[in-house]
Amino acid sequence: MRSTSLLVLAGATAALASSSHKNMAKHRRSQPVEKRGSGYTLDTFAKGQDFLDLFDYAEGSDNGGVANYVSESTAKSDNLVWVNPKDDTVHLRVDNSTASASSRNAIKLTGKKTYDTGLFIFDIERQPQVCGAWPAVWMTSMTETWPAGGEIDIVEYVSRQTDNGFSVHTTSGCYAGSSGYSGTAMLAGDNALNCDADATSAQGCGFRSTQNVSAGIGANYYKGGVYALEISESGGISAWFFVRGKVPSDITEKNPQPSSWTTPDMYISPSSCKPSTYFKNLGLIINTNLGGTWAEGVWNSDNSYAGQTDGSCASQTGYSTAAAYVLAEGQDFTHSYWKFRSLAIYK
Ligand SMILES: *[C@@H]1O[C@H](CO)[C@@H](O)[C@H](O)[C@H]1NC(C)=O
Ligand SMILES: *[C@@H]1O[C@H](CO)[C@@H](O)[C@H](O)[C@H]1NC(C)=O
Repeated sequence: MRSTSLLVLAGATAALASSSHKNMAKHRRSQPVEKRGSGYTLDTFAKGQDFLDLFDYAEGSDNGGVANYVSESTAKSDNLVWVNPKDDTVHLRVDNSTASASSRNAIKLTGKKTYDTGLFIFDIERQPQVCGAWPAVWMTSMTETWPAGGEIDIVEYVSRQTDNGFSVHTTSGCYAGSSGYSGTAMLAGDNALNCDADATSAQGCGFRSTQNVSAGIGANYYKGGVYALEISESGGISAWFFVRGKVPSDITEKNPQPSSWTTPDMYISPSSCKPSTYFKNLGLIINTNLGGTWAEGVWNSDNSYAGQTDGSCASQTGYSTAAAYVLAEGQDFTHSYWKFRSLAIYK
């Protein structure tokens, strides 16, 4: 998310990744599972206002975007944050009225607590699905200077893409292994498995899900699903997306057993990236950027490498830049909202 050169790499990735499978990955049946504890205990389970209370509101803008992240009081008075009293879902919106000349109001939540390890499970029903949006749920070090302390992206995509990008950004020396994941490396060549931000023009090691229902409009069609991130000193870093209807029952039962789940979309082996060396004091962040390096950089691309099926945003919208579209067509950003069902954190 901190990348300033993501657009170059995302563009380069397009060609390389065009052969990735677009079929929804068939969830393999898990092997017979021994009934034993995973060692995880529930630290936090939050919905509704309790979910929002885990976060502060960051203000300003980032990554070249035209989103203007507003304060809590503005978010509330402008109705950009809302808890549905019927089901306790948290709705995060983008201002859909007339924008200022240079920005459109949006929300960036930053977690109050930090973690070195743990199991983080987001149940998300709805995500932005509009050209020009760059939504993300991620973790980054709240105490070190990036990329020290690490960054892990749990949900990240732009515009009308349907294939989620999971990624890790570190200082030098952290590599993903060559197996153990179902996603497709987002970078080509020698650095595909190199998580070093400096060596990869800030991109780190990214894995695009082969499930075309794992992000944005693809996920929304199924009422979303569950994203799980495990950071374990002995087990490494693993991340999964489970579409609604295929969420493991042990997640629903709040007794998660990651070892019984399907192959993760992303896996970073502890033998080539020791978590305690690269990750420290990670805080959760949820934001909706608008335009910015990635969305702008692939504005003219059809994004089919990431499951966008309706053509480039330039051709869909008739605008030559993401920023121009974002600033002019407020009503379209009615479709740029998140609906979170819950967040569970296990230690
Ligand atoms: C996902 O891929 C399947 C198989 O190719 C296709 O039928 C379906 O329409 C795609 N879904 C989305 C949201 O693009
Ligand atoms: C803006 O969003 C709100 C909330 O989703 C919706 O009720 C309203 O109709 C939208 N306004 C426009 C102009 O699209």
